Amino acid sequence: MTHVSSLYLHVPFCKHLCNYCDFYKKQYDPASNQLEDFHQFLDQSWRIHEELFSEQKAQWSELKSVYLGGGTPSLWGTKGAEYFKHFLKSSLKLSADCEFTMEIDPGTWTVDMMMAWREIGLNRISIGTQTLDPRFITIMDRSHSLKESHELLSYCQKEQLNFSLDFLLGIPFSQEKERDIKSELDQLLSYRPQHISLYILNARSKYPLIDALPDDDYIREEYLLVSDYLRSQGFNHYEVSNFARPGFESVHNLRYWRGESVAALGPTGTGYLNLSSDSALRYKWKVSRPDIEIEKLGEAELSLEKAYLSLRTSDGWKPECFSAKHDEIFNHWVHQSYGSYHEGRMRLNSQGYVLLDSLMDDLFRAKLV
Ligand SMILES: C[S@@+](CC[C@H](N)C(=O)[O-])C[C@H]1O[C@@H](n2cnc3c(N)ncnc32)[C@H](O)[C@@H]1O
Ligand code: SF4
Repeated sequence: MTHVSSLYLHVPFCKHLCNYCDFYKKQYDPASNQLEDFHQFLDQSWRIHEELFSEQKAQWSELKSVYLGGGTPSLWGTKGAEYFKHFLKSSLKLSADCEFTMEIDPGTWTVDMMMAWREIGLNRISIGTQTLDPRFITIMDRSHSLKESHELLSYCQKEQLNFSLDFLLGIPFSQEKERDIKSELDQLLSYRPQHISLYILNARSKYPLIDALPDDDYIREEYLLVSDYLRSQGFNHYEVSNFARPGFESVHNLRYWRGESVAALGPTGTGYLNLSSDSALRYKWKVSRPDIEIEKLGEAELSLEKAYLSLRTSDGWKPECFSAKHDEIFNHWVHQSYGSYHEGRMRLNSQGYVLLDSLMDDLFRAKLV
């Protein structure tokens, strides 16, 4: 029997569709029936989800983590809190120490809405700040002002909430306009966040500012600068894109990286069921109707995922079928200052994280994954 105690729910609305974002979302229109349609989608999905659980012999346990991602979940508002309260009560139970996160964008929340969610268990907030430089907030096509960013940061600090910030690197014109990363970080750190997610802009070929993106060397330097600085301020660089003060690592996201089961609901939401040591199932919700696409994972896929996901985190990777070739490659990586290697376990550092894809290629070429 597979026990599942984590839930991701994708809320597919945004006030404005940022020109760089490929996540599934629609423009939010408060005068429309979008929320009612979304609730209907979730109600119908729930029945399909229960069938999936019964087929796969999976069972809910008390939830240890809930993550409302998007899109912009804060736009779900007090109506969302009412729906979700009822949903939880009729189907699921939160554990007393459940980590319950909502992604919130500046300018898309109210104190009433926040109180309604906090009453039903919300205890962690992930804020879409991206940058605190007025030049770059415009370049990044964000709908919110910096005043709205500071208002949300002040609220979280004043209410002593557990909160995380999203911070974006590789922004167009960063080089030409001499983006001052450290001064932005100092402003952000003055609000005492417990967690920071650091993303590098991933632009598709039709991105309008594709020609103004900084080069790879510049982005690598930015990444290492942020990592050095945050570590000097007491954060652990515990995953390629994530930093936390000790004890504030994301319980929910660690479950993905450790290959543990996480259920999902909402269009494009992707769930994972760890069925046994050599089989798992990934399912993704379609957007057109409440239905799922299923991918089955066997021993070979799982062993590749295990290597890749473990190397992403400070847990590191200890190959099960250890060989002299692993030893040779790991010693080479240590020699290049990409991480540390003890008792068969390789742990990358920030210099290694930034090269993760090419390090995975080393393993492929040597037929070690
Ligand atoms: C999908 S958003 C959802 C939360 C919220 N709406 C926001 O904008 O922060 C989560 C994170 O993904 C980042 N993101 C979206 N598109 C991206 C891209 N093309 N490259 C890198 N990060 C991206 C956003 O900047 C944000 O920090
Ligand atoms: S607000 Fe977030 S989810 Fe919405 S379009 Fe912008 S980056 Fe994407």
